[in-house]
Amino acid sequence: MKKQMMSLAAIALLASCASGDLKLNENNIDEIVEAMTLEEKALLITGVGMDRQDTLNLTATIGESADLVPGAAGSTHAIPRLGIPAVVLSDGPAGLRINPTREGDENTYYCTHFPIGSLLSSTWNQELVEEVGKAIGNEVLEYGADVLLAPGMNIHRNPLNGRNFEYYSEDPVLTGKTAAAYVRGVQSNGVGTSIKHFAVNSQETNRTGTNAIVGTRALREIYLKGFEIAVKESDPWTVMTSYNYLNGTYTSESKDLIEDVLRGDWGFKGTVMTDWFGGKDAVAQVVAGNDMLQPGRITQYTDIVEGVKSGKLDIADVNRNVKRILQLIVRSPRFKGYKYSNKPDLEAHAKVTRQSATEGMVLLENKGTLPLAENTKKVALFGITSYDFIAGGTGSGNVNRAYTVSLVEGLKNVGYTVDDAVKGQYEKYLEEVKAAKAKEEEKDPAAKRLAAFMPPVLPTEFVPAKADIAAAVASNDVAIITLGRISGEFADRTTANFNLSKEEKSLIDAVSGAFHAAGKKVVVVLNIGGVIETASWKNTPDAVLLAWQAGQEGGNSVADVLSGKVSPSGKLPQTWPIKLEDHASTKNFPRGEDWGLDLSAFMGGAIETEAKALKEFWDYSNHEEGIYVGYRWFDKQNMNVSYPFGYGLSYTTFEYSDAAVKAEGDKISVSVTVKNTGKAEGKEVVQVYASAPASQLDKPVKELKAFAKTKSLKPGESETLTMVVNAADLASFVEESNSWEVEAGTYKFLIGASSRDIKATVETEVAAKSTKVNQALKAQEFIKK
Ligand code: BGC
Repeated sequence: MKKQMMSLAAIALLASCASGDLKLNENNIDEIVEAMTLEEKALLITGVGMDRQDTLNLTATIGESADLVPGAAGSTHAIPRLGIPAVVLSDGPAGLRINPTREGDENTYYCTHFPIGSLLSSTWNQELVEEVGKAIGNEVLEYGADVLLAPGMNIHRNPLNGRNFEYYSEDPVLTGKTAAAYVRGVQSNGVGTSIKHFAVNSQETNRTGTNAIVGTRALREIYLKGFEIAVKESDPWTVMTSYNYLNGTYTSESKDLIEDVLRGDWGFKGTVMTDWFGGKDAVAQVVAGNDMLQPGRITQYTDIVEGVKSGKLDIADVNRNVKRILQLIVRSPRFKGYKYSNKPDLEAHAKVTRQSATEGMVLLENKGTLPLAENTKKVALFGITSYDFIAGGTGSGNVNRAYTVSLVEGLKNVGYTVDDAVKGQYEKYLEEVKAAKAKEEEKDPAAKRLAAFMPPVLPTEFVPAKADIAAAVASNDVAIITLGRISGEFADRTTANFNLSKEEKSLIDAVSGAFHAAGKKVVVVLNIGGVIETASWKNTPDAVLLAWQAGQEGGNSVADVLSGKVSPSGKLPQTWPIKLEDHASTKNFPRGEDWGLDLSAFMGGAIETEAKALKEFWDYSNHEEGIYVGYRWFDKQNMNVSYPFGYGLSYTTFEYSDAAVKAEGDKISVSVTVKNTGKAEGKEVVQVYASAPASQLDKPVKELKAFAKTKSLKPGESETLTMVVNAADLASFVEESNSWEVEAGTYKFLIGASSRDIKATVETEVAAKSTKVNQALKAQEFIKK
């Protein structure tokens, strides 16, 4: 296809009139648009395409395109006669994703694998996220890419979404603020970002064919709000539309979404691109204001050219989009002739990821066990992922890194001795599993290729024999068990993946039983990318640390926390339910494998027919819970949870005092003094929730409106935090009037250490305020089953 596209480019160039001296610059974009032929415009709108020889269409789905930066997901066409360079677009959220090696080249092009999105949001620390963004953006710049296809910022509607690890939270404010910090950091390098996937990409199952049916209020308040915050607070260069239909229209074909809301209501000035091969109708996409169609197909090129020629497509729409692409190009390092080094400071970035990861780890349980006591030296390390630590998820959210520090290495690096007998057993088991898998793959090369893109299935957990555990008790001071999960694009997780396996349960029981009988402690480390079941087992061990997937320095970061070098200060960016069914969304979420269907096989089209039997989970998804996503739902139902939104322990304790509120004009300042009352140094995350007065509208019990984190407080030290809420942020969206309405009355501001640990409440009067927006995004009725 690429060859065909190139020959079309050549024809376009030949057909064009003599170029003269006209070359693109920041001030002559209109003139350039004028000078471009229709064919050149169509080329610029459609990316350079990909080599799509493989029948499973896999490289087509996660890109391997451009020659400029091998392994980048895509690029635009260069039009040399007008001085228009190609710009390179490359994944992704946890760091730049390019090929680490190149044919005939001895150099390596590894990038740093930073922590996953859910860990970054767990820091609740916008400065830190900005620092991480800065380091990622530097790799984008120094490896010659122009736009990073990140951050991913879809709402964690349900724990089973296979890409939740790339995303931030169930709450739009935490999502939007984290994304904005990330974008500011990346873009401070003079490269672009693409906030994605706009919008309501709530699931991976049939992601290019499913219709998200969502009410307008839920759209505005939950699913779009984070994007709105990111656009207004960080000015991302680009936005990537999503794969799914939204209320019956592909998001990339939705003028309502792109022109009326994103650009009209929010003032977005950048460029919009499709997700890779997203949408169906190129003409509709151009009309909708989806400027770039990536990675570009030959049919899209011809549809645009023919569309204009036949009068179906207005050239004014084409020109408008081309202008916005050129505006992107003139900002790019490639246009500015930046001489990239291909040598970013990977050592410095390894330090950034090691340190930042510790701050997003969440201490879930601790019976005085962590940090490990000074005299703890010998560790019995259980769990397969202790030895094969997971840096991050798969697919375009993965990063081609040079190494991953496992927990065994991390513990050794800070001076612990890891039991060799236990280690030997796990390593042997992992080798056997690997050998068996290689044998299987040899028999079935197609399955092997598919497996390379799909999230891998982790081996069944290994449980050492009773006698071996007893031996480990005798010769060690403490046991650490790692439980792992991995997921990625193309597939959602399953109920079985949410729950612990029977082997995982027996590992926890057997190790805890044996170590406790000898008066020794057990720590569980969760090396996971999404929420799992914890209620049934969390009290068995003595401490539980949620380490997330902490990037390539993961083992070192966990060791820094376990040893007490750093006090954990992460808090949960989503609710951890007692069981999956407790989420309102679960009844409308695809759980194909639970019914014996491997929905991931949809890529080959193999099970589409069977899946039709589960039509409602395949073709559409009623977002019936409306705004009641995450804690908004659990609060409304007054339902017990395993861990509430915003929860996380520390090695020290904090006292809140002097809560106050001051309203000045439209600004409401909520302040509180936090004192470290414990014995260790630590940081505290403070959350401000608003609770609206009784109203005509159905309103959540409370909603996060602001948050802040203290500096690292020494024992006895205090800090006063002031968090600002704009009166307009208190508005609810009223569908009937198509406006944001702040109702007059007394608003309570709940100052919490979590959504269910409110330390102080202050209140203030707020005046009514009404803001009309563009009439757009009329919702579709939910489909009756
Ligand atoms: C993913 C995007 C990614 C793109 C390019 C798609 O499969 O959904 O997030 O940016 O591929 O690799």
